[in-house]
Amino acid sequence: MKLFSLVTLATTATALYTQRMTRIAGVEVIDTQIVRDARAMIKEFPDYLYSHQMRSWLFGAAMINANETLRRHVDLEVHAIATMLHDLGWDMTPGSRWVSSDKRFEVDGAIGARKWLSEHPIGKFLASQALYASEILNNQPEVGNSSLLVSQWAPERVRKVFQAIALHGSGSIVDFFELEEAVIVQSIGQDYHGPVNGVSQESYNAIAKAFPQDELLSGTNKTFTWLAQTKPATTWGKISRDFFPLSALNWQGLTSIHPKDTWLEPWGEAFVPGYSAVGHRSFDNIVGTTR
Ligand SMILES: *[C@@H]1O[C@H](CO)[C@@H](O)[C@H](O)[C@H]1NC(C)=O
Ligand SMILES: *[C@@H]1O[C@H](CO)[C@@H](O)[C@H](O)[C@H]1NC(C)=O
Ligand SMILES: *[C@@H]1O[C@H](CO)[C@@H](O)[C@H](O)[C@H]1NC(C)=O
Repeated sequence: MKLFSLVTLATTATALYTQRMTRIAGVEVIDTQIVRDARAMIKEFPDYLYSHQMRSWLFGAAMINANETLRRHVDLEVHAIATMLHDLGWDMTPGSRWVSSDKRFEVDGAIGARKWLSEHPIGKFLASQALYASEILNNQPEVGNSSLLVSQWAPERVRKVFQAIALHGSGSIVDFFELEEAVIVQSIGQDYHGPVNGVSQESYNAIAKAFPQDELLSGTNKTFTWLAQTKPATTWGKISRDFFPLSALNWQGLTSIHPKDTWLEPWGEAFVPGYSAVGHRSFDNIVGTTR
């Protein structure tokens, strides 16, 4: 083997274990191309949504930085992508590519993030493998620029992003999943419940100053009301009968296959005229309540 290729391999190996970092709102965060691209993408959303996703990332990064175990074990890129893309299902733009008519918002977010990763030049697992191989074969690594090399989006990483986002409304479940998934959901939760797990109030306040929180509750309220209005069947205990009006399918079988155990009902009950979950909930299914 030529000396040059040995040097190349050594440089490559070093690059794989070196992650570029930067500071945002006083918090040290990972700074790779795909992370920058995720941020640029969500910047297109209205401010309350962009800033909620940014704060989720930064509160989480502050939590990871404050904890030796988390620093050692959390995949910072997986964490950054999942927190920044977790609410794609909140995009109220008419005809949004992220929002389905029949899936709860968390699942829309998970599918959207997976799709975004699959379309991203670095996120495409096979493509990045090919690029990685050609970097080595061509003996031309970009020394000091590890963004390509550390960004191997193996299916395992995509799965973590998907699962954490799909379950982000269910902290009481996800806390018992793998570390990254639990940490991602705790990161998001801090925006509503304040600092946890070693994040100082000072650091929390600095993040909330850089990305103001003032529209968080009104924006969330508006979004949940919109979801109850535009796709009520995703907000209660089971799929609505009205959802398949002409269906010859076995209705009982269908409900037991696709329960939607979400917690958005109160927004429909409180703010959407004509909305009623009664007859649609798992409760009704089990105790036999009808409308
Ligand atoms: C660090 O995080 C781990 C995993 O969540 C947790 O078990 C541990 O108690 C934390 N350590 C400290 C010092 O907070
Ligand atoms: C690292 O490489 C990426 C992709 O080629 C490029 O966009 C970026 O500007 C580079 N960064 C540095 C610091 O050279
Ligand atoms: C929540 O949204 C509903 C429907 O738009 C509105 O009537 C209500 O005032 C809002 N409440 C808050 C606290 O934002």
